[in-house]
Amino acid sequence: LPLESLQSGGAGPLYLKLRQSLEEAILSGKLNHGDALPAERDLADYANVSRVTVRKAVDDLVRDGLLVRRHGSGTFVVRPVSRVEQSLSRLTSFTEDMARRGLNTRAEWLERGLFHPSPDEMMTLGLPADALVARLGRLRIADDMPLAIERACVSAEFVPDPLAVTSSLYSALEKSQARPVRAVQRISACNIKNPDATMLGVAVGAAGLSIERVSYLASGRVVEFTRSLYRGDTYDFVAELTIPE
Ligand code: GLP
Repeated sequence: LPLESLQSGGAGPLYLKLRQSLEEAILSGKLNHGDALPAERDLADYANVSRVTVRKAVDDLVRDGLLVRRHGSGTFVVRPVSRVEQSLSRLTSFTEDMARRGLNTRAEWLERGLFHPSPDEMMTLGLPADALVARLGRLRIADDMPLAIERACVSAEFVPDPLAVTSSLYSALEKSQARPVRAVQRISACNIKNPDATMLGVAVGAAGLSIERVSYLASGRVVEFTRSLYRGDTYDFVAELTIPE
């Protein structure tokens, strides 16, 4: 970090200069998301400033969300997320949406297997009680940033071997000739509770968007019933509106 020059370079309060150097290091990626900031004393020695100056600079960055203090373990770098703009009128998959933005996706699996459907799932998917459904629950991550928790449910006919779904659900459905062609999506506001908040890396009570998608085959049959929780600090859903004919 170029902190040695703080004393010499230009006018203005030291803590502001320190703040600026740290901010530049975070935004340029010299400090990575999740990196621990050196201890206050070490930082003060290194930059040749007082601990009070360090504390003021760090306080500022915590307030602006570029650093986070974790009780008992230290202060950590937060890479600010750029918001994701998502069209509300196109039926695309998460993997495709992220690929279009040049982001790599991965998932942490929360649930993946065949189950007897819940009454909700039975009704929505139009299945008899003795049918089986594949449940795919994932924390969805783009370029190391957790964005959403998605729990998809599809009839076992379309996904007979859930463990074979390693990345995209829609590409698995495509292979079974069951990629949906139409969907109805419902979005509502919520506050993110634990354990979801921890998984998504947001504060308990942070704003979230809860999204339900029911998607259909051309025949009119329901193929997917997915309940998702998206981070409210990251997503903009955008729809184009036209005047009714
Ligand atoms: C979006 C939708 C989900 C859908 C998923 C498929 O995230 N909200 O309803 O299941 O895309 O994505 P993928 O094919 O990457 O698994």
